[in-house]
Amino acid sequence: MAFADGIADFRSDTVTRPTPEMRRAMADADVGDDVYSDDPTVNALEEEAAAVVGKEAAVFVPTGTMGNQLAIMIQTRPGEEVLCDEQAHCRNIEHGAASAFSGVAFRPLGAPAGRITPDMIDAAMTGAGRLFPRIGMMVWENTHNLSGGRVVPIEVMRAGTDRARAHGLAVHLDGARIFNAAVALGVEPARVASSADTVQFCFSKGLGAPIGSILCGRAEDMAEARYLRKRMGGGMRQVGVIAAPARIALRNWPRLAEDHVLAAHLAGRLAEEIPGSVDPETVDTNMVNLDPESLRTPWEVLSARLREARILVNPPIGSRLRIVTHRDVDRLDVDRLVDCLTGV
Ligand SMILES: Cc1ncc(COP(=O)(O)O)c(C=O)c1O
Repeated sequence: MAFADGIADFRSDTVTRPTPEMRRAMADADVGDDVYSDDPTVNALEEEAAAVVGKEAAVFVPTGTMGNQLAIMIQTRPGEEVLCDEQAHCRNIEHGAASAFSGVAFRPLGAPAGRITPDMIDAAMTGAGRLFPRIGMMVWENTHNLSGGRVVPIEVMRAGTDRARAHGLAVHLDGARIFNAAVALGVEPARVASSADTVQFCFSKGLGAPIGSILCGRAEDMAEARYLRKRMGGGMRQVGVIAAPARIALRNWPRLAEDHVLAAHLAGRLAEEIPGSVDPETVDTNMVNLDPESLRTPWEVLSARLREARILVNPPIGSRLRIVTHRDVDRLDVDRLVDCLTGV
């Protein structure tokens, strides 16, 4: 259902607001100074999160960006390159953080929907460390945001990771939306994360918590990440107040299936009413990318219509208009959105 003020917000799943249960948990949270590892709620969250993705330990961080950056920092050396697909969030949207904080550059691969193959890795590694810079790690993103929430299949990850490891690379998974991937693939989240040394995921997206992400991996790597988190100014204190809603969010991940059903409904209706606008086969999770040209109405007209209907959608970026479903929109909102886009 739309927010209490009637606004249906399809810009991202980050717009979800904490539930009454989460707000109560925030008020009642047991807390301590987390820099001394004294916050029982954070300690419980870190243990639970590591277990869900099958890793030894975890470090709670304010944002997915910080989780990714710590992963890069602990697994590379300045001057190295990081292999990733050309549309990866860590390369495109993290504001140059990896070059500023870790002194690394990216070696982008043309891997549609983030599906990096062993051949691509072999080609990139040719000459690495001799004619070309050393490559220290590889990053997966699952689900893959810029391609429209596409899923990277387990066997693709396994084959790529095996090849990356054969070249001596560390492997990180940007699993901001790993639970969407697990739901879509019908596997446990630990299976999705099994191809990675480190995995970052977000509580603040479809899981619905107000704040927070977490980095998981080997205990010794997480000890180093904890040290570097403090160095970056991310040592937080009575942070149990935000870990408490994150613990609730973590338990609720199977609910994401509802967001996928809603996105499939949206894609199905658009494909029916505006043939060619969306390929429903490419809608794996909670995002629908459509070509704004196919709507045959200028964005200014559409955005005025949406505003009037109290619907929020981000403007198109190039040939991509991204619509995201989440807990705070429902079928009625999706149908109103389709009516606006189709001009009914
Ligand atoms: C795939 C992916 N990775 C990382 C992030 C960064 O998360 P945050 O906005 O919490 O820094 C995002 C945010 O949208 C994302 O989509």
